[in-house]
Amino acid sequence: MFVLGLQGSPRIKGNTNILLSSFLAEAERLGANTQNLDVARMNISPCQECGTCEKKGFCPIDDDMQQVYPLLRQADIIVMATPIFFYGPTAQMKALIDRSQALWSLRYVFRLMDPGRKWRQGFLLSVGATKGRNLFEGTVLMAKYFFDAVGASFDGALTYKQIEGPNDIKKHPTALDEVKEKAQALVTPFLNRKKILFVCTGNTCRSQMASAFAQYYGGDKIEVESAGSAPAKEVNPLMKEAMKEKSIDMAYREPKSVEEAAPFGKPDLIVSMGCKDVYPQFPGVPNEEWNVPDPFGKSIEFMREIRDDIEERVSSLIGVEKKKRGG
Ligand SMILES: Cc1cc2nc3c(=O)[nH]c(=O)nc-3n(C[C@H](O)[C@H](O)[C@H](O)COP(=O)(O)O)c2cc1C
Repeated sequence: MFVLGLQGSPRIKGNTNILLSSFLAEAERLGANTQNLDVARMNISPCQECGTCEKKGFCPIDDDMQQVYPLLRQADIIVMATPIFFYGPTAQMKALIDRSQALWSLRYVFRLMDPGRKWRQGFLLSVGATKGRNLFEGTVLMAKYFFDAVGASFDGALTYKQIEGPNDIKKHPTALDEVKEKAQALVTPFLNRKKILFVCTGNTCRSQMASAFAQYYGGDKIEVESAGSAPAKEVNPLMKEAMKEKSIDMAYREPKSVEEAAPFGKPDLIVSMGCKDVYPQFPGVPNEEWNVPDPFGKSIEFMREIRDDIEERVSSLIGVEKKKRGG
């Protein structure tokens, strides 16, 4: 599982970073993969309100935010951590929040469903110097709206007042323990999921569709990854089109090799679609061969047939009835 931390304080080793690092350290200790993104030192421009995301579904600004979109999509848990600057998050964090409009558009303009959306959790950590009664109100509201835009349920916040000097949070009687406990509570339900690795040749059509359906139908019980024996440069645009017809959003996915998929850890099951040669890399791991033809280079009609076949197979593999998707 993957926990993404968004660190919004410009102060090196400030209070926010101490809180977030404690959360992530506990998550790692429990077995999660984590990443602490130092948002305050990234080059993320504010949204220009150009409207491209609402017309085309992506943000054209070529800066560090382009690395953040796929991470937001991969995360099981997203932790936004920011000090209060003038009753809101820092400007650096606010730029990232505004740029998530590109993901908001995919959901609310294009009506597409990110397959991880149902299961992803969002959490806020924040500190401020004063005792103001409403100190965190604006930031909590903003966090709720941000998490909805990026496809995560808001799971609450831990906020600390009267934290001003760089190490004040370390003197707080309960903060670091509370953060650890929260990390345990959030991470634990994700830990015992069965791991399924879907493999095909290019990791551009079949294994991508299978992993998306599996995540969509069973992301609470299974953790999925996909890879290819000879990964292509990008996922197949026809595959994306065919999945769009099912309201499933395949944005920000890139083909990867079995080696690149290694952080996923040892799978409990490998499902291969024309890529049996990966089995020796996982001695002792049970496997299944799905005899699904490669739709690469074929028509959209053929892609649809393969998509529907894979959806049926995934639903019976994970033992769920196909549910109606909300769009
Ligand atoms: C530009 C700026 C604006 C701030 N605005 C507020 C504020 O509105 N309310 C407040 O309680 N603290 C405010 N603070 C104080 C910080 O929230 C506080 O020092 C916090 O501990 C900094 O966290 P950090 O160490 O993670 O950077 C402000 C600090 C700065 C530099």
